[in-house]
Amino acid sequence: MALPDDFLQELRIRNDITNVISGYVNLKRRGRNMVGLCPFHGEKTASFTVYPETESFYCFGCGVGGDVVSFIRRIENLDYIDAVKLLAQRSGMEMPEDSYDDSLQKLRLRIYEANREAARFFFSRLNLPTGKSGLDYLHGRQLSDRTIRSFGLGFAPDSWSDLTDHLTEKGFKPDELLQANLSTKTKNGGLIDRFRNRVMFPIIDVRGNVIAFGGRIMTDEKPKYLNTSDTLVFKKSNNLFALNRAKNSKSDKLILCEGYMDVIALHQAGFDFAIATLGTALTSEQAVIIKRYTDTVVICYDADEAGQKATARAIEILRREGLDIRVLTVPNGKDPDEYIKHHGANGYIKFKQLLEATGNDLEYRLRKLKESHNVETPDGKIKFMTEAAKLLSQLDNQIERDVYAGRLCDEMEVDKTAFKNQISKYVRSRFKREKTDEFNRIRKQITSETERFGDRNNGKVRAVKAEEALIAYLMLNPDMVRSVRSKLPPEKMITEFNRKVYSVITQRILEGRTAAITDISGEFSVEENSRIASLLANNNVETNSPQSCREFVDIILEEGEKRSADEIAKESPEEIQAYFDKLREQQKKKK
Ligand code: GTP
Ligand code: MN
Repeated sequence: MALPDDFLQELRIRNDITNVISGYVNLKRRGRNMVGLCPFHGEKTASFTVYPETESFYCFGCGVGGDVVSFIRRIENLDYIDAVKLLAQRSGMEMPEDSYDDSLQKLRLRIYEANREAARFFFSRLNLPTGKSGLDYLHGRQLSDRTIRSFGLGFAPDSWSDLTDHLTEKGFKPDELLQANLSTKTKNGGLIDRFRNRVMFPIIDVRGNVIAFGGRIMTDEKPKYLNTSDTLVFKKSNNLFALNRAKNSKSDKLILCEGYMDVIALHQAGFDFAIATLGTALTSEQAVIIKRYTDTVVICYDADEAGQKATARAIEILRREGLDIRVLTVPNGKDPDEYIKHHGANGYIKFKQLLEATGNDLEYRLRKLKESHNVETPDGKIKFMTEAAKLLSQLDNQIERDVYAGRLCDEMEVDKTAFKNQISKYVRSRFKREKTDEFNRIRKQITSETERFGDRNNGKVRAVKAEEALIAYLMLNPDMVRSVRSKLPPEKMITEFNRKVYSVITQRILEGRTAAITDISGEFSVEENSRIASLLANNNVETNSPQSCREFVDIILEEGEKRSADEIAKESPEEIQAYFDKLREQQKKKK
């Protein structure tokens, strides 16, 4: 799947890494680099760095990094070729022909087309006699024609194969219809429609593609909703209903609901920033996506027990992404759709009042906590205050902690100093725990990398460091490659991964080609690209000289001779960890 060098060269120039990443991350200048909040993990202080000089990015928090193509691969969830295609499209370039196998991409496009045609089909049925029951149902749920049109709602007729026949006539192949999950196979091999006699809700991604459908039955039968299963273009844990609309809202918040109907009712009432998960519990992938569009989420789940449980889980997940969370509880056990409908013309005002009165998630959790203890008894009161102290210790902001603590102590008539001390104690142990967690994560990352790359040599700190520094240096100083390569053939590199990178880079340069990270990223997985970006980010390339370059070579050769199987076995995870700690320290000093 080799793309021509000059094509990649131009792609790189036309898609400046800072420029591309700015489309997803709010970047601020820091020295020569740009920093922002990492889009790949939740964080409150920026450790995500873009290096215009090496055309790479790296996050010191989660270790993800790479070139501009790796960034697109990760953030858009694409394979290498599709990421290149996206960038080519973005910058008005034609993909070179025959340079890759694009059958998967072709199928993807066919699924999008089939879905779009299906959406048109469902919508058009509403005005035919076969679709009258569907239109009546939607009207009965008080949706206006305008809402029906703007959400593209529709109806799947009560027939075995109306849609399948229609799409077949339009030239779609059986395999495409199955892959789109619009048709299913019967026992004797024929195709029938997956959605029959249901009102249809198209699910549209933020780029405007119809990626799936939800279909609601119009009676009390089960299942109430039937959704498209995961396909090549749809993963339900990765998408949110109506985000394509809500992302254009003027509001700086998003309202997170449980159901399609809640979202549609809210939009119709004037709350155009409502979204919903697709019939599953909120996932961390969805939370990461939400964080791309807003800092504040209002959770507005059903008032029933299941809804409240789901609220607690969603709070945990959203909190990890550093979102501000508010919880709106609709009174009288109604869901948002029922509430708005109940208030008719006053729906907007009434819901707006609820929205303005929402407490943040902490107030909500304190209230729930209090309800679950009998605070009239001394024992119950102590238990409640202990749990409350734990809860407050999760706040990062000291002032915020004090405000809540003060308020709670007044309310419960307990001593403020003692309570605040208790909170401080929990805060300290939380910090300690978080630090340990981080260490463990890094260690795990290293261990799994070690396993993945199949070598146990990572612990050879001195050699690894020299190898990484050498590679980083050569990537920016290709003129040194010839002399280095003559002294250090690839097989002398000690760690397998560095050997691969070194060999790819030096080979290219000896052939008179370029070897920036973007030139080589297609030969490596996204994880490997992270590792390359990490060695670029952790080696201060501009201070390394030809002299230090020669030293690196000497160290590698020297260590190579010293190595024996016993030595490797002796190296402990602590040693690996110490090495990484040192890298981090150095990085901090640089900032
Ligand atoms: P209405 O009854 O039409 O008002 O739906 P609702 O949006 O109030 O639905 P409910 O609160 O019962 O469920 C919330 C969401 O869960 C729905 O929007 C669906 O996405 C999903 N859901 C509900 N029932 C089913 C089901 O039977 N199967 C699947 N796959 N999803 C469901
Ligand atoms: Mn409902």
